[in-house]
Amino acid sequence: MTRKEALNSIKANVENENLVKHMLATEVIMRALARRLGEGEEEWGLTGLLHDIDMELTEGNMATHSKLGADLVTELGASEVMAHAILCHNETHGIPLKTKLDKALFCVDPLTGLIIAAALVRPDKKLAGLEAKSVKKRFKEKSFAAGVDRQQIAQCSEIGLELGEFIELGLVAMQGIAKELGL
Ligand SMILES: [Fe+2]
Repeated sequence: MTRKEALNSIKANVENENLVKHMLATEVIMRALARRLGEGEEEWGLTGLLHDIDMELTEGNMATHSKLGADLVTELGASEVMAHAILCHNETHGIPLKTKLDKALFCVDPLTGLIIAAALVRPDKKLAGLEAKSVKKRFKEKSFAAGVDRQQIAQCSEIGLELGEFIELGLVAMQGIAKELGL
């Protein structure tokens, strides 16, 4: 599967622009993480890019979300490892995270939301001037973007990254595509 094919499939299945941006943000962090860890950048990137492809098709129903997604990406030609990561990123299914890719997608997913929220409260609403230390501060403020699961983000330790490094890597990666993210 090429990135182009993945994007075409997203276009066909996802209307919500914010959801597309969330998937692009997840992709770019997954790519940075793969480079940092010496893993396959394309495999990790495409997994991030496609992970919520079924969100609208399942109408956000957590009982089916990511099961359909795993089937869809398999049809697109994703490997078993990629499909498994997508399947178990939805905790509802109770499928244990097994591979490094499973664990990476799981902690990256909510990090995008924290970073976007931290950018949106800035006067310019831009990512460019946002510093990692203020995202870290926001992480500790429980009432800030309360829907963002801090524990899930902190599971970056499972792939060998300290929280500070993880947040910084995610922020820098997202700043690199700020224009596409509209931030
Ligand atoms: Fe997601």
